[in-house]
Formats: sequence, C-alpha cells, structure tokens
Amino acid sequence: ASSRHAALRGCVVTFRANPFLTAPEDALHVEEDGLILITDGKITHSGPYTQTRAFLPEGVSVTHYPNKLISAGFIDSHVHYPQLPVIASWGEELLAWLQQYVFPAEAKFSDKDVAQAVAKSFLTELLRNGTTTAAVYCTVHPESVDAFFEESARIGTRMIAGKVLMDRNAPDTLRDTARTGYEQSRSLIERWHGKGRQLYAVTPRFAITSTPEQLELAGDLYRSQDDLFMQTHLSENREEIATVARLFPNSASYLDVYDKAGLVGPRAIFGHGIHLHEHDFQHCHDTGCALAHCPTSNFFLGSGLFRLFDAKATNRPVHVGLGTDVGAGTSLSLLATMGEAYKVSLMASPQRLHAIQAFWLATRGGAEALHLEDLIGTIAPGMEADLCVLDPQATPLLALRTRESKTVADMLFVLMTLGDDRCVDATWVNGQCVHQRPSSEA
Ligand code: GUN
Ligand code: ZN
Repeated sequence: ASSRHAALRGCVVTFRANPFLTAPEDALHVEEDGLILITDGKITHSGPYTQTRAFLPEGVSVTHYPNKLISAGFIDSHVHYPQLPVIASWGEELLAWLQQYVFPAEAKFSDKDVAQAVAKSFLTELLRNGTTTAAVYCTVHPESVDAFFEESARIGTRMIAGKVLMDRNAPDTLRDTARTGYEQSRSLIERWHGKGRQLYAVTPRFAITSTPEQLELAGDLYRSQDDLFMQTHLSENREEIATVARLFPNSASYLDVYDKAGLVGPRAIFGHGIHLHEHDFQHCHDTGCALAHCPTSNFFLGSGLFRLFDAKATNRPVHVGLGTDVGAGTSLSLLATMGEAYKVSLMASPQRLHAIQAFWLATRGGAEALHLEDLIGTIAPGMEADLCVLDPQATPLLALRTRESKTVADMLFVLMTLGDDRCVDATWVNGQCVHQRPSSEA
C-alpha cells in the first residue's frame, strides 16, 4: 500500500567525496545505526537513529533492517533489455554474436506483447538486484520503447531509455531510415522525456549500423533539448574498430566519428571505450561525456580490458559508470559487476580497484556520469528515495566470511566478490518498497 511517509533504520552507507580523488576511507560515510526519513518519494532526513527519530512523523512505523547495509540504489549505465532472453549464448566475438543471437532476438520486439513481457521480467530482475536506475537500449521498434517506459512508469523507477537507430548493416526487419528513425525518436521524446521519472536517450546503436546521415540527425535530436541523453557503443572490439575506420575514412578516430556528428557532450554515454588513446580520454574529460565500464561483457565476448585508472587520472578525470551490458554481460548484478571490475583493474593497471571506489562507481559516480547526482546516487536530504538493502549474511558462506570483517570496507569487498541478487534483501523506489526477498531463501 502506498503512503506518503516511510522510515528505514539500519547501517547507512553513502558518499561524501570522490574516492578516486581522496582516500577511499575518507570518502565513505557510514552511520552504524542510521535512520532515513522519506516523504513523497524524497529523503527528508538521514542521520543517527537516536537524533533523527525526533523528526519521525506521527504514526509512521520504522522498517528496521538490523545487521543490514542501506545504500543508494545501484545505477547500471549500460544495458539492453531485449537481450535478456539471449544472455549466456555461446561462442562468438562481438560482430558474429550480434548476427547470430542478438538481431534474431531483437526482431521479435515488433510484437508489443513480447516487448511488454520482457520489459516486465527485466525490470523485476533489476529490482531483485538492487538496481534502481539504468540506461537502457530498447530495439529499433518504437513499441519496444513504449512497453519499457510504461512498465517503468507503473513501478515509479527513474529510467533512461531509447529506440535503437540502425539504417545499415543490419537485417531488413531491424532497419529504419535516417528520416523515420529521427521522426520516431522525436515523437517518443515528446511522449516520454521528463514524464514522471522517465528520461529519453537518443540511441544510435554504433557507427557500423548508422549512416553518416543518421548520426547527423541523431546529433540534431540530442542537441534539440539540453537535458536529453545519448547512448551508443565505442571502441569495444578490434574488428569493430577496423570496420569503423573503413566506413569513416575521414574521421581521425572512432570517437571523432561521433564528435563530427555532434554526439559527444554531457549526458552522452559511451559503452565500453576499451581501446581508447590518451587524446580520447582528454576529449571525454573536456566534453563531460561518460564511459560505461562493462567488465562481465568485455570478458564474455573477449573484447579486452578497460583501463579504469587511466580514465580516472586525477589531472583529467573522465566520467565512468558501471554497466552490466546484458545480454553480452553475464549478470544484472552490480555487485557481480564490481567484483569483475576489480579483476580487470589488476590486469589493466598497477592499481587495484578499492571496494569503496567500486561502490562509488555503482552509486554516486554513476549518478555523476549521468549528470543526475542532484537527484540520485546518495542518501541525503532532498535526494530521491531509491535505496537498496544489502545482507552481508545472505548465504552461509557470506555469513562465515563477514563475521571476520573488521571494517565496512572489508564487508563491501566481500559483498562485491561473492555477492549477487541473493544479497539484496530489499529495494525501495521513490519511497516505496518494490522488492522484498523472502526470508526463507538463501
Ligand atoms: N555493439 C553494437 N551493438 C552491441 C550490443 O548489442 N552489445 C554489445 N556488447 N556491443 C554492441
Ligand atoms: Zn551494449
């Protein structure tokens, strides 16, 4: 039942600073026995239980989560909802995998019933994993976007999504034209962008499947309102990069293809960005765009190792979010994704990802990457009440291991290394509990 007020008590973990710029332990704020008060979907108070209880409105009961951690909801900066049915498909690198598995799966979304059913399963899975905001690719069919936003609006989640634009190098049934793609996107923007919590992303799939004309028109759309998003793929796979160089002989780099079309700027989210050069990172920094780091996908397709610490270099930090990139990604869990990001960091740089840095990327850092940090990503008065409740004792092994934890940072590292949806005890969206894990499961 919906009610205007809610109150959550537990160990509250959130951020007060950027752990890529300051010592991780100083960036994390922990309130061992904290209380979060919510009214009309927004956090009004967050602080120690003993002090904050004085502000509890009369008649509001406190939902108590003893021995649990309460975090801002997770943010998935790159994921494809129509690919949920083909997650875990064997045996190809990017371009062959798209042909063999993805395009046939996406072709089914001309049927709105299919789109509705998958959108519902997908959003249910996100909530089971503690993810409360995602940047989502739909298919080329406008109905797939309507189906997704209709379900998101029903739940009340803050979601970013858009119709895929593809006018070449794809099966007939999955192609639009530069003109129809533009018109369909424009009417979807009118219908959905800024409606409740829904946000629109202009979504050219990648440079291989869009003509220069389509990319130009996508750029016009992206710049037509200053709060629209743009999402696409960038520099994921060697064969892809070579193909882009052949298709765009006059561009200086892969990023330059998008830049020439006016697609690089704030709220532009580029998936992968594995094989970038220093001048690309500099340009990302200068323009305020974001890279989505998708470690499980990059392992699954054998794409390569994202150089996170190069991207986050303190002299010109680039916005980075974590992406699951399902269906190439192998999990919708941001916990599992953080665990894989740690392993990538060991292989791609001398530095190793700290647990506090990983949790920042999945919450506040992701919100900053999307320029949504005034709305989501931290637990503080005025922020939207999107929360996930983590259980460090969710399984016998987790309980055995976290019993040894002397610090919250150690507990977070165990959660990201061993954890997944089983660790998400509850998820709150817009001040309402939208997922509660049955207590008998483990
Ligand atoms: N590049 C273009 N399309 C896709 C996609 O659907 N998944 C991934 N991982 N890369 C892409
Ligand atoms: Zn992707």
